[in-house]
Amino acid sequence: MAKNVVLLGPPGAGKGTQAERISKKYGLVQLSTGDMLREAVKKGTPLGMQAKSYMDKGELVPDDVVIGIVREKLKELKNAPGVLFDGFPRTVEQAKALDSMLEEEELSPVMVIQMEVDDSEIIERLTGRRVCEKCGANYHVKFNPPQKNGTCDACGGPLVQRADDNEETVRNRLKVYHQSTSPLVGYYREAGKLRVVGGSGSIDEVFSRIDSILSSV
Ligand code: AP5
Repeated sequence: MAKNVVLLGPPGAGKGTQAERISKKYGLVQLSTGDMLREAVKKGTPLGMQAKSYMDKGELVPDDVVIGIVREKLKELKNAPGVLFDGFPRTVEQAKALDSMLEEEELSPVMVIQMEVDDSEIIERLTGRRVCEKCGANYHVKFNPPQKNGTCDACGGPLVQRADDNEETVRNRLKVYHQSTSPLVGYYREAGKLRVVGGSGSIDEVFSRIDSILSSV
């Protein structure tokens, strides 16, 4: 089992959904830059105030800012059994920085799982996503509905739509993905670190594809 894993894929590929299951099964610590940035926005910290304008438009937060928060977090996670990166890296510059940070901290290099999903499916997934305001649990009105409409199964908190899940912003996030993040596929393929899985099908089906890769290395 690889100790450090990157989930790579477009917005809405199911990275967060699968990260939760993978972390549970393999005891990895999930590091989601999107969650960290949203938390900073919620708390109104200087980082959050800087990040908000980018996130609202579906643009990437500048590399130096994101690399800085990951660097700090990795120091805290030095003794973790392994880290599951969800939403990081997103540019070649971030990927190079991650390689150096892992080396500096004497941590294992990453294995990368790329999740492929068509753009049309992504729009439906993201515009129908609902998240719990209290605990962050993830739902979909059609594909993964809560038992009681508008209420989180896990904690009873209210389900809301993310500010960047409207169709216009989702389309821009996809454009940004194709321009800035998809070059990572070549970067990791050349490094011999890339595995590719289909991200369509049920959540359980996608998990079993990822699981069969992780359990065989
Ligand atoms: P972030 O929070 O990372 O958003 P994202 O990458 O756009 O990914 P999502 O969280 O939208 O999707 P996901 O792949 O996790 O899918 P999920 O499992 O939720 O980033 C947000 C913003 O922060 C960025 O736009 C940027 O501004 C900034 N940012 C973050 N990291 C950054 C970085 N490294 N550099 C610079 N800026 C950064 O699933 C989506 C929906 O589909 C859910 O409703 C789910 O229930 C449903 N679903 C999941 N799997 C399936 C399935 N198999 N079938 C049907 N439905 C499914």
